[in-house]
Amino acid sequence: MSKPSLLILPGDGIGPEVMTEVRRVIDWLEKEKDISFDVTEDIVGGAAYDAHGTPLHDDTMAKAQEVDAVLLGAVGGPKYDALDFNVKPERGLLRLRKEMDLFANLRPAVCFDALAAASSLKHDVIAGLDIMIVRELTSGVYFGEPRGVFTEGNERVGINTQRYTTSEIQRVARAAFELAKKRNGKLCSMEKANVMESGVLWREEVQKIADAEYPEIETSHMYADAGAMQLVRAPKQFDVIVTDNLFGDLLSDIAAMLTGSLGMLPSASLGLPMANGRPKALYEPVHGSAPDIAGQGLANPIACILSFAMALRYSFDMGEAAALVEGAVEAALADGLRTPDLMTVEGGTKVGTTEMTDAILAKMAAA
Ligand code: NAI
Ligand code: MG
Repeated sequence: MSKPSLLILPGDGIGPEVMTEVRRVIDWLEKEKDISFDVTEDIVGGAAYDAHGTPLHDDTMAKAQEVDAVLLGAVGGPKYDALDFNVKPERGLLRLRKEMDLFANLRPAVCFDALAAASSLKHDVIAGLDIMIVRELTSGVYFGEPRGVFTEGNERVGINTQRYTTSEIQRVARAAFELAKKRNGKLCSMEKANVMESGVLWREEVQKIADAEYPEIETSHMYADAGAMQLVRAPKQFDVIVTDNLFGDLLSDIAAMLTGSLGMLPSASLGLPMANGRPKALYEPVHGSAPDIAGQGLANPIACILSFAMALRYSFDMGEAAALVEGAVEAALADGLRTPDLMTVEGGTKVGTTEMTDAILAKMAAA
């Protein structure tokens, strides 16, 4: 089998800083575990604007379409705030998402024991949490027509339309069921079928896919408002949650904040399977370019390292290597190492970007 290919796009601000640390993890795996990747690196966002006058060069876009996975740092920064809308750094990221047709956004919520005390939830509610929210990303109420602000008689009316086709529901459902298969065989779909017709269709289509293609997966349905309550009351009852764009926006933010700092949160966006069976995929930390701490060696590299671990598991079928990386992150945190963003947790030793990775690599070696 050919080597898995990875396109690395560090971007701006702390993007290149955290990506340097991911490169060290990749180098370690290549040297110690005999896993090899076909890695190429390119520029995106403000860095690409500076070099090419566009936040994403066509050649970079073409490369992104060919590789097994793209790993992106972060884009943007004050230097680019005054730029024209069409060449803003964010447009580079949006173009990637759009042209790769990344319709399934994966946001894990994992509670590392060492950080459980920082959660707003009680320890036993949160300890050991490991769930995955799959949000539909390219359709629904953020895109549906008609939309706009109109005048009706002597009133103005703002309109947005929730619209889902069967194929849009089916493809995100399949992506979520595939994840459930790689995880714990459990999936909960959320909508509001009690008050929304689009929700009725969503529920019917998810159940059809479950019956026809994934009978081994334990499938359930929940109204999204009840789901929001359950996420805070007893989040560990879930494993994979699949939901639409709007509810997913809210539910994934709730789930993320159950567990702590922005510097800890990875994400992935998946598209349709390519010829080799792997889905189109973009992995990226949830955080931005953090201009307030850029260039100071203070950025927490964990969100980006965990994004790479997701690529190992979900694009490359290297679950063991993913678990090695995740376990090493957990162990480094358990030793009390804290980048400044994690100092809200009591105790611990303050470290910078490089030292945190040093510790993670040492834990990988010791595992
Ligand atoms: P941000 O996520 O960059 O920063 C928010 C706060 O969290 C800051 O105080 C920052 O220092 C801290 N933080 C973020 N990541 C961290 C990490 N790994 N380690 C330690 N602390 C961390 O969001 P903000 O400030 O709203 O945006 C800054 C720039 O980033 C803007 O230009 C924005 O457009 C861009 N941005 C880019 C995103 C992307 O590339 N996906 C997402 C969000 C914002
Ligand atoms: Mg949001």
